[in-house]
Amino acid sequence: MKIVWLGHSAFLLEGSRKVLIDPFLSGNPLAAKKPDEVDVEFILVTHGHGDHLGDTVEIAKRCKAKVVCIHELSRILSKFGIETIGMNIGGTAKFNSLTVTIVPAVHSADLEDEKGNLISTGNPVGFVVEMDKVKIYHTGDTNVFVDMQLIGELYKPEIMLLPIGDYYTMGIREAVKALELVKPKIAIPMHYNTFPVIKQDPKEFEKAVKAAKLDVKVVILKPGESFEYNKK
Ligand code: NI
Ligand code: MN
Repeated sequence: MKIVWLGHSAFLLEGSRKVLIDPFLSGNPLAAKKPDEVDVEFILVTHGHGDHLGDTVEIAKRCKAKVVCIHELSRILSKFGIETIGMNIGGTAKFNSLTVTIVPAVHSADLEDEKGNLISTGNPVGFVVEMDKVKIYHTGDTNVFVDMQLIGELYKPEIMLLPIGDYYTMGIREAVKALELVKPKIAIPMHYNTFPVIKQDPKEFEKAVKAAKLDVKVVILKPGESFEYNKK
């Protein structure tokens, strides 16, 4: 499977299926692709915040992609005439060679409407995606939580995509603890350097993982760069 980081929390997973997660592209100065440059079958959205929902509606319409997210957000998105699959935490859906499981995240997910009223977009979540026998855990926006250990034990993800930017999510200290709980083989940091308040040096994260003597390889990508991971 080829994992392409498009910047922030946006990842493109290319294998037997084409999956896009949290496509915040047009509003992101560091995004590696424009919304009209991606061609995907599935879009997974971790929560309703603008830096995750991003260009979901536009891309889903053009590609006729299915949008997988939490039930409440799916109800909101289906009003835009796109195909949504509204699941809930603990649920797994199978689409031939692609399996998507929704797992918890510790974050918030309210939005303001045009009148300034808060609307709920459902709980924020993470995803465990299995494609071509490779399992990836995209945590979404979250702090570390002890139940990450369960996610590690149940799904055994080889690759973990996790925020290190601090302020809106966990920072380096919490992210190292998250790796200790989940025990992936590979960790790819995300959700940093997009805005000044989440400025972070990913090399410091790599150092902290080494100092904690975890058996995890940190892979630092630049927006647009990819990492290939295949299983025999
Ligand atoms: Ni958020
Ligand atoms: Mn965010």
